[in-house]
Formats: sequence, C-alpha cells, structure tokens
Amino acid sequence: MLEYRGYDSAGVTVFNGSLETYKIAGRIKDLEALIPENIEGNIGIGHTRWATHGRPETKNAHPHLSSNVSVVHNGIIENYLELKERLSLHGYDFHSDTDTEVIAHLLHYNMNCNGTRCLFEGLAETVKELHGSYAIAALCEDEPDSIAFARKDSPLVIGIGKEGNYAASDVTAFLRHTREVIYIDDGEIGLLKPGSIEIFDKAGIKVSRNAQIVEWNLEAAEKAGYEHFMLKEIHEQPTSIQNTFAGKLSELEGTVTIDELYLEPEDIKKLRRATIIACGTSWNAGILGKYLFEKLAAIHTDVETASEFRYSNPVLCGEELTIAITQSGETADTLAAVRSSSSYGCRTIAITNVVGSTITREADSVFYTRAGPEIGVAATKTFTAQLVALYLIAIYLGRIRGVISANDAKDLIVGIKRLPGQIQKVLNSNDEIKECAVRFADKRDYFFIGRYLNYPVALEGALKLKEISYIHAEGYAAGELKHGPLALITEETPVVAIATRGHTYDKILSNIKEVKARNATVIAVAEDDDSEIEKYADVVLRIPSSHELLSPVLSSVVLQLLSYHTAHAKYCSIDKPRNLAKSVTVE
Ligand code: M6R
Repeated sequence: MLEYRGYDSAGVTVFNGSLETYKIAGRIKDLEALIPENIEGNIGIGHTRWATHGRPETKNAHPHLSSNVSVVHNGIIENYLELKERLSLHGYDFHSDTDTEVIAHLLHYNMNCNGTRCLFEGLAETVKELHGSYAIAALCEDEPDSIAFARKDSPLVIGIGKEGNYAASDVTAFLRHTREVIYIDDGEIGLLKPGSIEIFDKAGIKVSRNAQIVEWNLEAAEKAGYEHFMLKEIHEQPTSIQNTFAGKLSELEGTVTIDELYLEPEDIKKLRRATIIACGTSWNAGILGKYLFEKLAAIHTDVETASEFRYSNPVLCGEELTIAITQSGETADTLAAVRSSSSYGCRTIAITNVVGSTITREADSVFYTRAGPEIGVAATKTFTAQLVALYLIAIYLGRIRGVISANDAKDLIVGIKRLPGQIQKVLNSNDEIKECAVRFADKRDYFFIGRYLNYPVALEGALKLKEISYIHAEGYAAGELKHGPLALITEETPVVAIATRGHTYDKILSNIKEVKARNATVIAVAEDDDSEIEKYADVVLRIPSSHELLSPVLSSVVLQLLSYHTAHAKYCSIDKPRNLAKSVTVE
C-alpha cells in the first residue's frame, strides 16, 4: 500500500522465533517472490525505498541489521559519516552505502555497550545523536512483542487495530485494518505492543493523545477496476472537486464561506501582499492562484519555488500572507520554506489534501482539498482540487475586500458548481484524446503553450507528460516562444496550445500561427462552440464552454488524459514513474 512513496527496493524483517529478513532491489512483487510462502510471525517491519544515499541495490534496501536489531528509516541522517567512523572504531562492520545502517549499529551499541538498555531506551539514546530527518521503526530479537519508533521531520502515524497496532509513514498502509489513528509529532518517540501504545515527547514526558478517525476508506485507496490509479483518480474529479467546494458556496448571496481560515475581516482588508510557496504540480497551481488573487482580491502575489525560497533572503515584514500548497503536506522543501516565512511573522494558510500531515501542524490555518487519497505519483485530482481551493479563497478574500461584486461572485459560484458536470463531459471525450495521444506517442519533444490563466495549465500539461511518458516536454508562456524556444520547433514537434476564449484568445491564435509557420503540428484545447480554431489547429480537443476564469480546470483534465494515454501507448510505468516518489520528504 505504500509502494507509491518509493519503489526502487523493498524489504521486511519478521520475528518468527528469530528475526528473518528478506530484501531485494526492485518492486514489492519481486520481494513477494523472494519471501517463503509459509512465512509466519507476530511482528514485523517493512520498507519500500526511494534511494537517497546509495544506489538501488539489495545491500542498500531496508531493513538494516545490526546483530539482533533491525531498523527501517525514512529521511536523511546528515551526520552519518561521523557516526559511521565512530562505530567502525567500536568494531561495527558496514555492509551498505546508506545513512540508515548507522542507526541500526548505533541502536545496537546503545542497547549493549554502555550498560544494558531495552529497545525503547536504546532508541531514545540513539535519536539524541542523529542530525537530520527520520521516521524510524526498530525491532530487537530479545523483545519480540515490541516495535520502537521515533519521528523528526518525516511523517509517522500510528494505527490502532483490533488485532494489533501499526506504525507507518501514511495511513493508507493500514487502512484495511483500521481508520483509528494517532499522529506522531516531531521529536516524539514511542513503543508499540500488541495491546499498548506509548508515546513520549522530547523531554521524555509521556504524551496522552486522543485517536482520530480518518475519513478515507480502503476502497478510496484501491484501483476499483481501473487499470491504473492515475486513470481512476482522473475519473474521480467530478466528485473530488465537489468535495472541495461542498458547503462553502452561496449562490444566492454571492459569497464563499471558509471559516477554517480564521482570518479577521479587518486583517483581510489590510492585506497588501501574499506569497505562495509550493513545489512541482502544486507550484503550477500556485501560478493560477497568483492571477486569481490579483484579479479577484487585488492582492499582489508572488509564487515561490519552495526549494529556492528557503535559501533566499525574502523581504518580508510579517504582514504578508503565506499560502503553502502541498497535496501531501509532507514535502520537505515546502515545510522548510514555510518555517522560514513564519520566522518573519507571516501568517500561513496551508492548502493540503492530507488530514494530520505535517503542514497542518506548521500552518496557522488549513484548507483541506478533500480529494481523497491520491496514489498515482502524478498528481491529477489533487491539482484540480487545489485550483478549486484557490478560486474559493480568492473569491472569499475579494468579496471581503470589496474587489468583486456579489453579482460577479455569483457568476463564478454558478460556474464552479457546473464544473463537476463539465469535467464529466471532458471524460466522455476520452476516445478522441486517446486517438491524439497515440498519434504523437513516438515524438521526442512536445511543447505546451498558454497565456495568462492558461500558462499554468501549459506548465502542468508539460510536467504531467514528461513525468509519466518520459517525453521531453516544455511548458511556456506563449508570448515567450519567440525569445528562444521557437528555435526548437520543427515539423517533428507537437505543440499543444491551450486556446480558450478570453482576452488573450487573439494572442494565442497568433502564437499558433507562429509555430505553424515553422511546420509544427498544433493540438489545440478549445471550447466546444469555437469554430474559428479549426482554421489554425491540426487537432482540436474540446472542453465545454465555461466562465472564462474557470476553464483551466477543464483544460487540465484534457491534458491529464493526453499524458495518460501517451504513457500507456509507450508501455510506461504510469503509477510509479522511474526515479520519482509520491511524497518528497527529503530535501
Ligand atoms: O505533495 P506536494 O504537493 O507538496 O508535492 C509537490 C511535488 O512533489 C508534486 O506535485 C510532484 O511534482 C508531482 N509528482 C507531480 O505530478
């Protein structure tokens, strides 16, 4: 169930009279083939890896062992070389290139070499010496009813089952057993036994925390007959975006209610600037957010790449609003950037899909997109849910600031409510999109161009295609083509132009003519009542006409299907593309 978070090697240790460990470079199915069918045990740890230190080889797969101790770890131990040197002097041999192996040896050392300690005490001693990020689960052969765990800057959640307890980096791991969970906070460590869960804070004080019930169910995290999670998630969008806006829109009054932002109207009126922080797809959503906040709420908005922002010198005075967009709520760069902006005193709103994720504890308020679990590595339904969240927040702020009228807000609200039905129409045109995808699946390069609100759609279309089909794809603001990229356009380059009507429509038509003049094949995404476009484009993929500001949601669904079918035609690993992982919890 966790394979989407890393899939270059995998392993397990179970206690079956003694610790038995199996690991392999490859997927879970390869591990399954390795493990004896009759394996038994009352306790175990497992791991599916996304390599950071050390290549994806069997010796680097987790669990890592030290005599009677076995450890799995997510994160990065920054001082592992120093620890390795010290442990080598104590006679420990290293068999992998990973940073994790030092945890296993250090744990063994701390349990045995400085007086005898139990597993829990040994881990408590060990984490004091670790610099970096970790979620750790550890077993010791001498304590066959215990798993010790610890967390810092890497997610860890406990599941309380009827027949046992669980620790995992994501609730999807144990959804088939329980939906009752306890989220572990940074710096906490603890001990799981069949009938007990003990958690201690940094100071060693016992923590008592109520369990929560997660809304997600097992069906939501399974494929439900679809060939891939990505296809299922694309098809879920009529429902997922409905869940994003449910209970928040009043068509009659032209208002959006988002109580969970906890912003005072007076503070909203005073806002002059917002900074959106995100990575990848969430960053692309952020670009749309910028345009919406500026148009609908008259708030100057910057969009920052989290990995850059955290090392820059932002000029912030503390009165700005920070909006962190992260589907998983666990992206290390986004979390670090948010901490940096909070240090200036900025108020942070998180837009996330995962209840209880780390960002929800870092931010001052949280907007949950409620799109349900997304397992495919390529973000699809969570992207459109983020777009809808941004429409809602922009209208909400704009109404309070008096930038948009009730009537204008009503038009948008009516439009938002129509989106689920319109997405369904796009999904119904799957066959045309597939035909187009198959026709160009052998191309080496693709360009995606759009202007204004369609620029982030172009960026996201390109990211989706390169991520799952391995075709080189560039997303460009269409007006930028002539400043360089036009040199790459030949008759072998499909150019996808997002050409919905609005005040930049004529301009994108000119850009289409520019690339046509260089013999490119143009695939246009256009509204179903636009007959003009056929004069210029080679292929037209249709979306229903919508409110001008809302078409990015519909165009994005077309481009998701285009990527999906291209990758499918190329027999790519759609849900688990090479080199990637769903949550990037390391820097
Ligand atoms: O969980 P996040 O939204 O913070 O993730 C950010 C990116 O890693 C993510 O959007 C990535 O670009 C997706 N795989 C794209 O499909």
